Amino acid sequence: LPAARIAPSILSADFARLGEEVKNVLAAGADWIHFDVMDNHYVPNLTIGPMVCEAIRPLTNAPIDVHLMVEPVDAIVPMFAKAGANIITFHPEASRHVDRTLGLIREHGCKAGLVLNPATSLSYLDHVMDKIDIILLMSVNPGFGGQSFIPGTLDKLRAVRTRIDQHVENGGQSIDLEVDGGVKIDNIREIRAAGADAFVAGSAIFGKPDYAAIIKQLREQIAL
Ligand code: DX5
Ligand code: ZN
Repeated sequence: LPAARIAPSILSADFARLGEEVKNVLAAGADWIHFDVMDNHYVPNLTIGPMVCEAIRPLTNAPIDVHLMVEPVDAIVPMFAKAGANIITFHPEASRHVDRTLGLIREHGCKAGLVLNPATSLSYLDHVMDKIDIILLMSVNPGFGGQSFIPGTLDKLRAVRTRIDQHVENGGQSIDLEVDGGVKIDNIREIRAAGADAFVAGSAIFGKPDYAAIIKQLREQIAL
């Protein structure tokens, strides 16, 4: 498996001190900043947009991993690229032309990926494996932090890991496999074993007194 990346979701950060939170979590050993964009249309919640991405961009060189929970998708892609996003993922059922949206993201110099909800079929991957850099599997229904990991995600993860490995064996590019929702110290090990290589964690990290201690414990679990 590729090296594990920890991607704290700033959805659970203290928004009144967002810059400080981003700096602290990176100093504590985070690899990516997971940036949840919700539009009160695709999901029943409303969060942050390109202006906030632009505001945190100067604080770090670490990748900003933008998870779009918006519908439609295309108009916001160039805005996030300009705001300094490195990775942009979207939910395929929220885009009318999935292939076009993936191309648009790459044309803007970002890594492109699809996000699959707990009940979304893997068939969305069928004709676009060569056009994606990352697959984000939701292990909760999108919209809120602090929900419980849906156990059925583990089987889905194993299936996606197999597809990625076959794709690479057949000469395809590498594809990251990220998991989002309910990732904690007590389940990250089995999530890793099922094939994930990037781990979003919001409520497991933010709001806790010592980010470095939590990230260290997450890493220890996946190193076991
Ligand atoms: C949910 C978001 C997640 C969320 C994860 O729609 O996409 O990134 O913040 O939060 P936890 O880790 O608390 O489940
Ligand atoms: Zn997310």
